[in-house]
Amino acid sequence: MAYEARINAVVSDIVDGVRAALFKHDVTFDEYRVALAFLLDAFEKNDVPLLMDVLFNTTIVKIEGKLMGGSKPSLEGPYYLENAAVVTDRLPMRDEDQHHTAMQLRGRVTGMDGRPLARATIDVWHSTPEGRYSGIHDGIPPHYYRGKIVTDADGRYNVRSIMPIPYQIPNEGPTGALLTAMGRHSWRPAHVHYKISAPGMHTHISQAYFEGGAYVEDDCCEDVCEEHVVAEKVEDGVRIVEVDFVIPKATEKAQAA
Ligand code: DHB
Ligand code: FE
Repeated sequence: MAYEARINAVVSDIVDGVRAALFKHDVTFDEYRVALAFLLDAFEKNDVPLLMDVLFNTTIVKIEGKLMGGSKPSLEGPYYLENAAVVTDRLPMRDEDQHHTAMQLRGRVTGMDGRPLARATIDVWHSTPEGRYSGIHDGIPPHYYRGKIVTDADGRYNVRSIMPIPYQIPNEGPTGALLTAMGRHSWRPAHVHYKISAPGMHTHISQAYFEGGAYVEDDCCEDVCEEHVVAEKVEDGVRIVEVDFVIPKATEKAQAA
């Protein structure tokens, strides 16, 4: 479809959808003005990326998953940092955190043909045991709880870290106020982020969640899907987070779309 026709089709349908909601609820002029003030406030306070994460980002993620095939993708979130170090056995962490419950991230990366993806890079990152992100919050040095894992000849990876906890998205701004006004909360379940890249392959972004964990059924960003909830498994006191990834080639995307 030509560019102009596509913009027209998508924007017209979005506008139609909003108009239908306004009619359905008999939205008043006073409410319209509140909405306008909310949008201006969100722009002024740079809260639009967070608002989009909460409202629409996972929708685009689901569409991408449908077009691509392979493992289902997730939200990237705002806390990926490009320059994490390569790690081979454990993610770097603060000494005082060593006693927290350990987790072992392991699994296998294959292509759509089932063949192992050797020497793929898996960036992993997750929150501290206080639910904060290194390099972003509280002056925590950026190399903690992050790392690039390189898959072996059989596509496998295996690295130790400690359990993250649920994460509260910033709630003091307009997006937080909106969630509160709707009677919703601003918590995400504990999760581990993954970003997998390899030459010629689609860059795959995912998250893993912990079965039975708080907010798994009620993520404020609505990202959780069944495929990403890891069953509870413990070996010698270590929580096992076993996740396999099936990744399409970069060119497979064009074919699917
Ligand atoms: C947000 C933060 C996260 O850690 C995440 O995984 C997803 C979204 C956010 O603040 O929008
Ligand atoms: Fe996160």
